[in-house]
Amino acid sequence: MALDAVAAKQLQMAMLSGQRPGAELVHEIKRASQGDPLFINKVMEQVMKMTREDEQQNVPDVDMQQDDEVDVLATDISAIRRREECDAEQYIKMLEPYIGAAGHIVDIGSMSGVIPSCYADHWPEHAVIASDLDIPKHPDPTRRVRGMSLLRETLSQLADDASSPHRERYLSMCEQSVCLDVLQPVWQEVGHLNSSCAAVVCTALLNTNGFKTPHMWRNVLAGAANLLREEGVLLIFDCNFGGLGDRNVVEAFAHRVGLEVVEHAFHHHGGQNPRKECDVYKLILRRTNRIETLVAHEHSSGDLVLIDGLKSNPKLNGKTGVLDSLEDGRWGVHIAAGVTTKRKTISVRVKPENISSLMSSTGKLLDPVLVADQIDAVMDEKLA
Ligand SMILES: C[S@@+](CC[C@H](N)C(=O)[O-])C[C@H]1O[C@@H](n2cnc3c(N)ncnc32)[C@H](O)[C@@H]1O
Repeated sequence: MALDAVAAKQLQMAMLSGQRPGAELVHEIKRASQGDPLFINKVMEQVMKMTREDEQQNVPDVDMQQDDEVDVLATDISAIRRREECDAEQYIKMLEPYIGAAGHIVDIGSMSGVIPSCYADHWPEHAVIASDLDIPKHPDPTRRVRGMSLLRETLSQLADDASSPHRERYLSMCEQSVCLDVLQPVWQEVGHLNSSCAAVVCTALLNTNGFKTPHMWRNVLAGAANLLREEGVLLIFDCNFGGLGDRNVVEAFAHRVGLEVVEHAFHHHGGQNPRKECDVYKLILRRTNRIETLVAHEHSSGDLVLIDGLKSNPKLNGKTGVLDSLEDGRWGVHIAAGVTTKRKTISVRVKPENISSLMSSTGKLLDPVLVADQIDAVMDEKLA
């Protein structure tokens, strides 16, 4: 006898996130076993089979875990604070050695906003911009609150609970918070901050979204490269999806968008199970000057691209994707399809005319005359 599908899915989610199954689930497994001592082996086989099928589709469903977490968040602000202030403390320690003179700090996927509010308290001379997905609040008050609605609600609640100067700080953060979907080809809402940011922070984004869109850290690097001023830094603290845990892979991509890897270190195993995706890494990348990205490149594997002009699957037009290999004149592309919370990766082959590169920097760091001189200097060096 197999385990009931819902219970099997719950067990799979618990295993993937490295948690022990809860009491109810254990009870359900015992009940279904009907005393068969080998039942647990059969259940494990069932779960492994589900995981293999999910991997083949490349879109395992992690919403259950994510949703439960957000439900708790929406209802208990003191519990959020306790948990997230500890996380913020460790991120601050990671960023502290690199944070430069006053400037903007953009936090990606801020969720409740507690973590960026800690940045604002710790670095009051910097302007912290919290951000998240645009997920409008459902009219039904019993439905969970997520994205910008959650962020703005929690920030104003933090302001209500605080006294001066924190109150004014959180209110201003609430006003300045922006919708930012890293999978969009252009980060319009923060475009005015291009080349001016002291830091960009992205923590625990892949943690809950990597199963659906494992390549999204490349969008984060490309977008952050645009935002950062020269010597500005990007902190990533996240799970090992899409090659994030491989320093060579990250370095190759980072170099193409004008970032250098300053630190790339394994931090801890994110769960008890051996899935490498659960391993958590800490990365610090620094904005270099943009000379390398200004030298034209051919497309290559791992590049971030924009899909356009597809007739066979027009829904994919306007989406971003990551190049795989070129075969028979067509590029394999892993495209981040769907919108906001309903993302999934679709892998297709497209003609070169249906992709355009998102690798070149749109920043304005360098004076054009200087750029021309520097390109000459690079070419001279390469030809020497
Ligand atoms: C697990 S929470 C991380 C919260 C916080 N940064 C931390 O370190 O605990 C992930 C957040 O990323 C947001 N998110 C999911 N997909 C995103 C995307 N494509 N672009 C920007 N944010 C996204 C979610 O709405 C959620 O608030």
